[in-house]
Amino acid sequence: MAEDLTILMDADKEVKYQSLIPQIEGLMYGEKNLVANLANIAAALKEGMGFFWVGFYLVDSTDELVLGPFQGPVACTRIKKGKGVCGSSWERDEVLIVPNVDEFPGHIACASASKSEIVLPIRKDGKVIGVLDVDSDLLNDFDQTDQIYLEKIIGLLDQ
Ligand code: SME
Repeated sequence: MAEDLTILMDADKEVKYQSLIPQIEGLMYGEKNLVANLANIAAALKEGMGFFWVGFYLVDSTDELVLGPFQGPVACTRIKKGKGVCGSSWERDEVLIVPNVDEFPGHIACASASKSEIVLPIRKDGKVIGVLDVDSDLLNDFDQTDQIYLEKIIGLLDQ
């Protein structure tokens, strides 16, 4: 497909996700390289959803994540297992929706403008290989709708 996204500027977020998913599938079609696919997913989500920061942290050793492809302000490069929202999502192997990052014990503030966050573990062959992290500069900006569609998007990586 052409490397252009169709962006629905005025639609609600569910419609935006529904429009983006087939486009992301198209971008990934026939491409097995993980970094290439993560890079395009980050770019598609940034452009298509207007997120403040969106990107990946990848498992780099038994106890550490390292920054992967992302879009947005520069970010911290390494996060220990169990630390911050990303390290906690990895350790617990569960999705974390944080309505107010200041109230999350141990939250790692990469950007002071960040107010709320969703982090989802990415599994490959049943094992967590990293997390998808999305940050907003608004409080309480993520909900089950984000979880459902972001899970669908990262599920495309495990095919
Ligand atoms: N806030 C995250 C760190 C990553 S940045 O937000 C990009 C955390 O607490 O894990």
